[in-house]
Amino acid sequence: MRARDREAVFEFCRNTWPGYGDYIDRVWDRWLRERRGRFILAELEGAPVGIAKVSEFSRGEVWLQGLRVAPSLRKKGIANEINREVLRTVKRMNPRVVRFCTGARNKASRHIGEKFGFRVAARFRFFWGRARKGAVRGRVARMVDLDAAVEFIGASRFLKVSHGLIAEGWVFREFSRSLIRNYVREGAVTIIDGRRGIRGLAVYTTTQEELSRTVSMGFVDGDVTSIKALARNPSHLAARRGFEYFSAAVPTTYFMRLLRWSVYGKSETAGQVVYELGGAELRRL
Ligand SMILES: CC(C)(COP(=O)(O)OP(=O)(O)OC[C@H]1O[C@@H](n2cnc3c(N)ncnc32)[C@H](O)[C@@H]1OP(=O)(O)O)[C@@H](O)C(=O)NCCC(=O)NCCS
Repeated sequence: MRARDREAVFEFCRNTWPGYGDYIDRVWDRWLRERRGRFILAELEGAPVGIAKVSEFSRGEVWLQGLRVAPSLRKKGIANEINREVLRTVKRMNPRVVRFCTGARNKASRHIGEKFGFRVAARFRFFWGRARKGAVRGRVARMVDLDAAVEFIGASRFLKVSHGLIAEGWVFREFSRSLIRNYVREGAVTIIDGRRGIRGLAVYTTTQEELSRTVSMGFVDGDVTSIKALARNPSHLAARRGFEYFSAAVPTTYFMRLLRWSVYGKSETAGQVVYELGGAELRRL
């Protein structure tokens, strides 16, 4: 990639989601630096017309995101071309699983995924709203809590309905001890203690792959009172950090119903669909 590619890409990504913009400018430098995976640029007669990002989160766990085609050149097969290149790249990585997430209403993206053999692995509901000051409940987990936290998350109902995935905004990662260790190290895990161990636990991350900077809840479980208390924290944490918005992603059904009315009543929401393709299916393509 060259310096002038950057400006051209930012220009065609300026209004990807009308009224909301895009996050590509915020992740550009990091995506270029990342050693694992690849940042793909599509050109037409020497000018950038599209991008896609391939990441490897853990060994064999590949994540696709950032597929964009310049608005004036859409519906001409450019995304199909980019995806062929993406899949060639991914095949060389010999992954166990490949995933991506898109909006439930993103027909183009869903069509493209399904066409290449991806299947729906999980459905989430994404909430976002204005950050408001307030008391943060619970305590930040430390390394001594790691075993208990891993056990709690591993046995949780959330993980059962989330297909083993934890959300970071619109990015989804597989639960593992090392993922949770990283979250604990970053201060991203909050615990509400009970008499017999953990009563409730949540993971809050600050991702750049969102349309504005937020504190985002990507895991929550416990008893109903704890879940509600923990679900209110992102708004307060975001206000503390001076962010305008908070967000949260929870698997549909139980968690969605619980939070939608009681906690996130006035916030905006969108359906998220996580697609998956197994390594064996990928090799057959
Ligand atoms: C999604 C996007 C990358 C598609 O790019 P594109 O170059 O227009 O796509 P292509 O022309 O290669 O079309 C690919 C397929 O999707 C279909 N498609 C494209 N746009 C579509 C739309 N709006 N609705 C339904 N299907 C659509 C095409 O018909 C084609 O199907 P086919 O291969 O079976 O004939 C482009 O619309 C875009 O940048 N959107 C905004 C960003 C975005 O949503 N990215 C994905 C986020 S996860």
